Amino acid sequence: MNFSIPEKASIVILTGAGISAESGLETFRGAGGLWCGHRVEDVATPEAFARNPAMVHEFYNMRRRGLLKPEINPNPAHLALAELEQKWPGEVLVVTQNIDDLHERAGTKNLIHMHGEVLKAFCHFCRSNIECRNDLSIEMTCAKCSKTGGIRPDIVWFGEMPYRMDEIFDALANCDLFLSIGTSGNVYPAAGFVSEALRHDAFTAELNLEPSLNASIFHESLTGPATETVVRFVNNLLK
Ligand code: OAD
Repeated sequence: MNFSIPEKASIVILTGAGISAESGLETFRGAGGLWCGHRVEDVATPEAFARNPAMVHEFYNMRRRGLLKPEINPNPAHLALAELEQKWPGEVLVVTQNIDDLHERAGTKNLIHMHGEVLKAFCHFCRSNIECRNDLSIEMTCAKCSKTGGIRPDIVWFGEMPYRMDEIFDALANCDLFLSIGTSGNVYPAAGFVSEALRHDAFTAELNLEPSLNASIFHESLTGPATETVVRFVNNLLK
């Protein structure tokens, strides 16, 4: 690492599935990116849900069950980011594309789940978010409005607007350091955050197992498993 940032620099950190890989959660595009022969893009859409809600529910039920297994825990990369937030004198915001809760479990507080959360359901009728740790189905009744048939996972699908974009772009416009961790750079708008941070003169670094699609536009690109690169990067920042 060879860069200088202000003592109280504002840091924005984008994370993707790669940060949770060493906790035992599959990435989206690993293993050919297929789920039962379907591309993620063919399951994670409002159209797929309208066509075959049972299949889409099952996709997320499997992910929820997987996340809640006792052996799935935050790894040293999640913990390092929580430590950074706690000890860094400036603002630290983690924007995650992940729908798991491993950042929260690690202790990160200033966190945006831009693609939603698998441990929440959303009622199409009353527009409530409901905590959920069990399987969802099309037959479910909403605990808030008592209507049946409107429950879906609280996930932002392809073609839908991610959550809290105003806050994210505001933070990107005001950050001194932008980090992108464990994301392939396939999915916009998240893949465009680096350009936005660069436009506002932030220093940008990518920490990924392999160079992402955007690797060449970052000031620095570190390759390796997140549990090594993130821990090393955070330790250097906190030195
Ligand atoms: P991807 O599966 O597309 O990419 C994961 C990235 O993590 C890849 O570039 C891997 O090389 C890298 N990786 C794997 N293991 C790693 C490790 N141990 N340490 C560091 N990096 C590692 O996942 P995302 O980029 O998060 O959206 O996918 C973005 C979005 O596409 C997801 O949020 C989801 C998906 O479709 C929605 O569901 C809307």
